[in-house]
Amino acid sequence: MENKTDYVTISLSLHLIFARLMKEHAFFLENSFMPKDKAFSDEAAYHKKKFEKLLSDTIALSDRRLPQHTLESGCIFTKHTMQAEKRTEFLTGIPINSDITSLERELTACEQPKITPGIIYHVKQFNRYSIRILNGMIQFKERILKQVLSCQITIGICPTWLTHTINEAKMYRSYILNAETKFYFEYGTEIQTQISWNQIMTEHALLTVGLLDPTEQNFIQKNIVFSECFIQNTQKLKKSKAHWSELSSDIISHTIQFKELNESALENILRCKLKSIMLPLLADHMLRETLFCLYLQQKPFTYT
Ligand SMILES: [Fe+2]
Repeated sequence: MENKTDYVTISLSLHLIFARLMKEHAFFLENSFMPKDKAFSDEAAYHKKKFEKLLSDTIALSDRRLPQHTLESGCIFTKHTMQAEKRTEFLTGIPINSDITSLERELTACEQPKITPGIIYHVKQFNRYSIRILNGMIQFKERILKQVLSCQITIGICPTWLTHTINEAKMYRSYILNAETKFYFEYGTEIQTQISWNQIMTEHALLTVGLLDPTEQNFIQKNIVFSECFIQNTQKLKKSKAHWSELSSDIISHTIQFKELNESALENILRCKLKSIMLPLLADHMLRETLFCLYLQQKPFTYT
């Protein structure tokens, strides 16, 4: 990318947001295998460590290098992330490195960071490292999916969730490759990007339905309505001659309402008021992805 400041800030932001999502995917997998498949759990923990290293290194370079609106977007951490991690650690017995969250909360913003050749060198190294560990993670998830679909193993999450996380890993990889190879950065055209994120939102709504207790009809019905809403939005976006500017206010409004539903589910899970098999960290993880969708739609976006 020709603009060195954009190259640094976009790369660092992407790692803070997506390396965290990847380490959490690895954690959810680690926690999902049957006792006989301990080797797979260990392999998931190995991938988790790789993304934790990338995240820690990124945090060390991010202080006074990212704008306020990115740090406050809620995509890096929400006001619930620390509590969700502590509760999830308590419920699963699997340690979670919450020092990462503490360090992220201490990051200070800077609107015009000083970019030196040394920083560019480090960012380039992070980007290379991320591609390498993403390739490993994608292969690992594809191998699990193959085993699940051929009934060789069973896990506590469904195949659609696996393909969903594979697609997110590929999306992260494409964003980094984009930052490395283009003269300027874009996530894709506004319409392409929104179609991809509508797909993610639809799957989150449907996956949430599968994780809720059948008695939680209020949350179940609302998630079903949102899944249909995001599908309809996608159909409108796919129509030829569709213009983002004409559809954006409806789509943004649906995403804001979905964010409120995500947050309400998370808060109720944390208060032990919602019956589900959803870990608190998974509810927080999904909320962060909805916030990232809003971050792409509204510039600048601030999470309150
Ligand atoms: Fe997701």
